[in-house]
Amino acid sequence: MPRNSLRFLRNGTLTEVDAVGPNETLLDYLRLRERAVGTKEGCGEGDCGACTVAIGRLKGGRVIYEPVNACIQLLGQVDGKDVVAVDDLVQNGALHPVQQAMVDHHGSQCGFCTPGIVMALFALYHAGVKPDRNVVNDWLAGNLCRCTGYRPIADAALASISGEPADALARRRADTVQALENLADGEDLFIGDEDSFFAAPATVDSLAALYDRHLDAVILAGATDVGLWITKQLRELPKIIYVGRAAGFADIDERAGEIRIGAGATYADAEAALASIDRDVAEVVRRIGSKQIRASGTVGGNIANGSPIGDTPPVLIALGAELELRRGDATRSMALEDFFIEYGKQDRAPGELVNAVTVPRLKPGEHFRAYKLSKRFDQDITGTLGAFRIAVDGNRITGARIAFGGMAATPKRASGAETALVGASLKKPASWQAAIDALADDFAPISDMRASADYRRRAAGNLLRKALAEIAAGDSRASRVVGIREAAQ
Ligand SMILES: Cc1cc2nc3c(=O)[nH]c(=O)nc-3n(C[C@H](O)[C@H](O)[C@H](O)COP(=O)(O)OP(=O)(O)OC[C@H]3O[C@@H](n4cnc5c(N)ncnc54)[C@H](O)[C@@H]3O)c2cc1C
Ligand code: FES
Ligand code: FES
Repeated sequence: MPRNSLRFLRNGTLTEVDAVGPNETLLDYLRLRERAVGTKEGCGEGDCGACTVAIGRLKGGRVIYEPVNACIQLLGQVDGKDVVAVDDLVQNGALHPVQQAMVDHHGSQCGFCTPGIVMALFALYHAGVKPDRNVVNDWLAGNLCRCTGYRPIADAALASISGEPADALARRRADTVQALENLADGEDLFIGDEDSFFAAPATVDSLAALYDRHLDAVILAGATDVGLWITKQLRELPKIIYVGRAAGFADIDERAGEIRIGAGATYADAEAALASIDRDVAEVVRRIGSKQIRASGTVGGNIANGSPIGDTPPVLIALGAELELRRGDATRSMALEDFFIEYGKQDRAPGELVNAVTVPRLKPGEHFRAYKLSKRFDQDITGTLGAFRIAVDGNRITGARIAFGGMAATPKRASGAETALVGASLKKPASWQAAIDALADDFAPISDMRASADYRRRAAGNLLRKALAEIAAGDSRASRVVGIREAAQ
């Protein structure tokens, strides 16, 4: 029999909840059930960070704390985890070090954003790094503050975060590890009945079998898309199957020539492995949403949702990734680009899971570049994203895989430009023009609120030119306005 109640930690204490609606959010649980109202609701869609809480989970035998947006996190997702809200930070009447630093450095005015900022900094306090201002800015990218200004907030972070946490949570770390290990019971979780439920299978076999039995269920991974269906579209989703507890579904296997990423791996989990392919892959991942979004959102969810402006598909397509799908016990594979058929339509049958994506590493003589263009640098949706894998022999271009997001109804390869580029010389920019011109036949972009069709068309050509110029120069520093820190490393 599957377990029919949630179990998680609050303040070091085991909490058990049995009546859980499939669509209940963590924020509603905290504010409405616990009356822990320090956690605020601002946008309700993962953008402002006011609702940030920290979620502790075991990774490699240690407990790590990650910031998440409680407004779009479903309550069932915290099963087996340690939930830390801003209300928990004061111990014996004393403010937490990051709270005290926010006071000392005048890091708060109206204060509505402050609880979420404190929790983002709390997670950084526990990350085990002594941050510089760039690192602090990255951790605060998911927290909007309209009145204080970020300088005093960053000052508070720099003053209070040493990389060696010494608060109450740090002192009870060993107990927390033990308690989380005890919670990992390996049992399937199923709360509700056959018509309405929140389920979190403990194995991939039971996950696949349950989805096969309930073809109308919604698969839930990080909820950074699905959460908004509930909070913004006010949809009722009676059947939810959460993939986050299925053992092995988030595994990342770093092999010699390729990396296999289980569909349940979050961006945060996959970041280091993807960075080992190329630093531009890492830079695209770092530009996805915020720390909060990257701690929850998955690579599998980014592929499965089929968005034409999802950031990982063009990068993975240019790299030559292969997608693995699974229904029941049967699996099949395809080139990732073949998965995207047309807008809103992917090659995925009812009951079929996105199981994993395998990404080849670069070979000697191959170069990779990727650029995300958005109106705002942090926490913004892509207008156009170009990804380029270019093979070179001497100065002669011998092969090209080029993919764009935001240029068509799906993430798509630029097959005309790829063909036109072969034989061109890295040292002769005039020989690139045929490929740049071919983009006009490869794509017919639309105008929307993110970018006009004309902008997209011109930007795509310029991104290809930039990639080739950077490869020819053997150095990206001169042509980077942002991301220059990474380019310099
Ligand atoms: C504030 C904010 C900022 C964002 N910024 C970016 C950004 O910069 N770039 C970007 O690309 N995206 C961005 N997103 C969108 C979103 O974060 C990504 O698309 C994310 O990868 C979705 O993954 P998830 O695990 O949260 O998926 P979920 O929301 O859990 O699911 C998404 C969809 O995929 C399906 N699904 C998930 N996993 C599987 C599976 N294994 N098999 C079958 N179906 C599955 C679900 O049923 C659903 O249809 C942002 C979202 C928010 C809220
Ligand atoms: S309320 Fe704005 S991110 Fe959750
Ligand atoms: S202090 Fe007012 S929004 Fe941050």
